[in-house]
Amino acid sequence: MNILGIETSCDETGVALYSGDGGLLAHRLYSQVALHATYGGVVPELASRDHVRRLLPLMTELLEHTGLARTDIHGVAYTAGPGLAGALLVGAALGRGLAWALEVPAVGVHHMEAHLLAPMLEDPAPDFPFLALLVSGGHTQLVAVEGVGRYRLLGESVDDAAGEAFDKTAKLLGLGYPGGPAISRLAAEASGGRYRFPRPMTDRPGLDFSFSGLKTFAINTLRTQDGAPGHEAEIARAFEEAVVDTLVIKCRRALEATAYHRLIIAGGVSANSRLREALATLATERGVEVYFPRLEFCTDNGAMVAYLGYLRLAAGQQESAAFSIRPRWPLDTLDVPLPED
Ligand code: KG4
Ligand code: ZN
Repeated sequence: MNILGIETSCDETGVALYSGDGGLLAHRLYSQVALHATYGGVVPELASRDHVRRLLPLMTELLEHTGLARTDIHGVAYTAGPGLAGALLVGAALGRGLAWALEVPAVGVHHMEAHLLAPMLEDPAPDFPFLALLVSGGHTQLVAVEGVGRYRLLGESVDDAAGEAFDKTAKLLGLGYPGGPAISRLAAEASGGRYRFPRPMTDRPGLDFSFSGLKTFAINTLRTQDGAPGHEAEIARAFEEAVVDTLVIKCRRALEATAYHRLIIAGGVSANSRLREALATLATERGVEVYFPRLEFCTDNGAMVAYLGYLRLAAGQQESAAFSIRPRWPLDTLDVPLPED
């Protein structure tokens, strides 16, 4: 069974083919970063229009690369939410329409569930249960995962998501969009130690996060700095250390609370090398296994959508020809667990 996956929830157009027998056959990605860079962030309407331009050529390229014809597609999965409404509609309309024309089933999948399962595309893949740290541009969540569709939200951001905090702080420092990689590059130039940012909400029990104060702290540090050379790199470094340290502290707590022996990290911020190293150290300390997606599957991609779509379609889930999208879609309202085999 070959499943086509389509991702268009934000500023990346992603397509992939996942096969029940052969695993991930191929994937293609078109990033709109250059299109939005001039505006310092994603412009929703420009994103939708660019998905319209890119999606079909990308799909044709994917099929040509694999040597498959459209009729070799046995099911279609598209991201139905959460995300930008117009952008989601492009993938949903094309995916649903294609499935209708090919007379194959289609399923709309949850973007964060797709991120959560992205480490399953690696070898070795984690077994259930595991603790998941989801860190993207829109979400920061700790989730207890007992199986596909069996998620318990343990904590989440009460304001800005970690990725959002990276993006906003990068903007303050005059760096480009997306801010995460830009902050990381600048931070690498710092010798460190000049500034120390707070670790928000770590002084009280609980697994929620709050990152918006770090942005304010960065503004104030920038205002009061002494003008010494390299202070921006020092701010980037202190900010990155504070985010990473806070995530590590909460992961440690969540591992203690769940007593799970596996930790997975997914979403755009999981591409951050300081975070990957710090969580690998935490895992060693606690004797747990840690799993990351490969770098290209940390940020948005079609492969994770094709894989999740395969799982759901193989379990018999599908949608009628009347499709919908859900720009807001809390992960813990997913109540369609897959049967255990
Ligand atoms: O998962 P993703 O591609 O899209 C959403 O679902 O939101 O995540 C994008 C976020 C952006 O905020 C971006 O700045 C952040 O991930 N990001 C990073 C890194 N690469 C991407 N943050 C920190 N370090 C990175 N290397
Ligand atoms: Zn994402």
